[in-house]
Amino acid sequence: MRASPQRAFRAGPFVPATFAEEAIAGLSAKPKWLLAKYFYDRAGSELFEQITALPEYYPTRAELSILEAHGSEIARLLPAGTALVEFGAGSSRKVRLLLSAATLGTYVPVDISRDFVAEESARLRRDFPALEIIPVAADFMQPFELPAELLARPRAGFFPGSTIGNFEPKDAKAFIRNAGQVLGRGAVLIVGVDLIKDQAVLHAAYNDKAGVTAAFNLNLLRRMNRELGADFDLESFAHSAFFNREQNRIEMHLVSMRPQTVRVAGKKFRFGAGESIHTESSYKYSIDSFRALARAAGARPVMVWTDADGCFSVHALKY
Ligand code: AVI
Repeated sequence: MRASPQRAFRAGPFVPATFAEEAIAGLSAKPKWLLAKYFYDRAGSELFEQITALPEYYPTRAELSILEAHGSEIARLLPAGTALVEFGAGSSRKVRLLLSAATLGTYVPVDISRDFVAEESARLRRDFPALEIIPVAADFMQPFELPAELLARPRAGFFPGSTIGNFEPKDAKAFIRNAGQVLGRGAVLIVGVDLIKDQAVLHAAYNDKAGVTAAFNLNLLRRMNRELGADFDLESFAHSAFFNREQNRIEMHLVSMRPQTVRVAGKKFRFGAGESIHTESSYKYSIDSFRALARAAGARPVMVWTDADGCFSVHALKY
């Protein structure tokens, strides 16, 4: 397959809600919330990269070790010439392991942010000159169509990082169902899922000693100050992360340390002392509970791999 020229495919008419609209909705609610997807401006993405290298944050290392150890078994599920669709393509470290292990025909990074996908694609093109790369600009939570030329090829999906854990379980199910519609019958989805484990390990992973996770959480306020004309005083909010045992999820919050009023996008919001904004949930699954969720979404679990410590899982699902 020859290297393809730089081109991107825009999938479907989709008008996303704005940051201002979603921030106003969340800060008007009781309890207050903000959407975790807004963590990832440039500073937030850099902080997240730092998180992935922290000694306490095991998921990235554990998932990479699984992809390294089992890359050839995963590759056996991907026939030569497969078009691999990565949902929400971030850093290309993980997909590179699959690209090296399997003889893929086309790599299709799907992301709402065109610029980021373009930068990563350029780097991949250099390193895998025989691979066709077709970036798609789309919201992968919505139905979208793949470029027609891919419909005659075997197709597979890739959703690493336990990003699926940041969805409410009903949204995780909706994602799996939607990915099946996008990829089509017979396709395989390779998905990374963080596992329920010792609470001290979970707690440490989201409360690192160096304070990078706290900075990542607080960056959301900095971003609102910059982009929404907000006047959050960052000194008067504190990072809080804990494991919610009933829901099997880490919750991240920003806690107001004093009573205060904050202006965001031209509106005023009151905070009591100790009142928090719920900024992220990170659901943890058992292998069985994730398989049950996948089945309920219309996918058949075919394989699962874990790291040596049993911290993280990579599932292969078939539609
Ligand atoms: C991207 N996502 C899977 C991370 C997680 O672990 O839920 C985001 C994160 N939040 C705090 N630390 C890392």
